[in-house]
Amino acid sequence: MGGQNPYIEQVEFVPATKKFKITFVREGQTVEADPEKIPYDHNGLPGSILDVALGHHVGLDHACGGVVACSTCHVIVHQGLESCNEASDAELDQLDEAPGVTPKSRLSCQCVPDGTADLVVEIPEWNKNYARETEH
Ligand code: FES
Repeated sequence: MGGQNPYIEQVEFVPATKKFKITFVREGQTVEADPEKIPYDHNGLPGSILDVALGHHVGLDHACGGVVACSTCHVIVHQGLESCNEASDAELDQLDEAPGVTPKSRLSCQCVPDGTADLVVEIPEWNKNYARETEH
């Protein structure tokens, strides 16, 4: 599963053209996103926080596979949010379902950094996929 939900509006985003880093604060893990390797995992929009996280084996729940049909991929973007695309109405509607939403909350499958800033991201404790992604 993954890609885009055909029943919702197309999401506008600017793909990253240079490398950027995402630090996952609870995990104490920093990963580097490389535009030449995007998409990593085919879950969520190409180059989204979810795509980059899964491509680096960072556990992040994503029950609907990244098509804006759940809110399990909720993250809080503490730094670098200005480098990301605007949230669509569909994303904001789904975010309403997530507990603990903050002004810096996004659905990680829909949040695509343009590479002009490094990000600091928190995966809420309740949101973690304890059955971590493994190498295939
Ligand atoms: S994985 Fe379901 S909305 Fe992001």
